[in-house]
Amino acid sequence: MNEKHAKLIAAMVRYDKGDAKRIQHFLKVHDLAATIGKLEKLNKDTQFILETAAIVHDIGIHVSEQKYGSSSGKYQEIEGPTEAQKLMEELGGYTEEQIGRVKYLIGHHHTYKNIEGMDYQILVEADFLVNIYEDEIKKDAVEHVKSNIFKTESGKQLLTDMYIEELF
Ligand SMILES: [Fe+2]
Repeated sequence: MNEKHAKLIAAMVRYDKGDAKRIQHFLKVHDLAATIGKLEKLNKDTQFILETAAIVHDIGIHVSEQKYGSSSGKYQEIEGPTEAQKLMEELGGYTEEQIGRVKYLIGHHHTYKNIEGMDYQILVEADFLVNIYEDEIKKDAVEHVKSNIFKTESGKQLLTDMYIEELF
């Protein structure tokens, strides 16, 4: 793992301290995003952005809960970008362009229309791969997600192997 991602993970764990459920969530999303990105042969810069965004993608949840009493996707998209910017600036070493793209991705990761860019697409797929399990999404809904939202071959394969095909 890239050292910057390791440091961001540690900072994000501290940000979410005491909330093991959310911490475990973003760790899984990051791992799956990194895996799909590598299998899809993203260039270095895009892989970097994707992994960074995956680590901080749900950073808006706590502020949303405090402000609106809700952790719904829409509020997270509103509150997340600023929180991510603060954290990334505190850590330092990110360009304005990188922060800008990560903020965009956080602000859109629950929006499945007009997905533009491999970082965006893969972040959405990785989040679904984890949420299907955590939210106990039913098999027919998984099939729907597979044909309507998933685009990468690696993401589709992971989704099929995790949730659609049976072992026996
Ligand atoms: Fe998420």
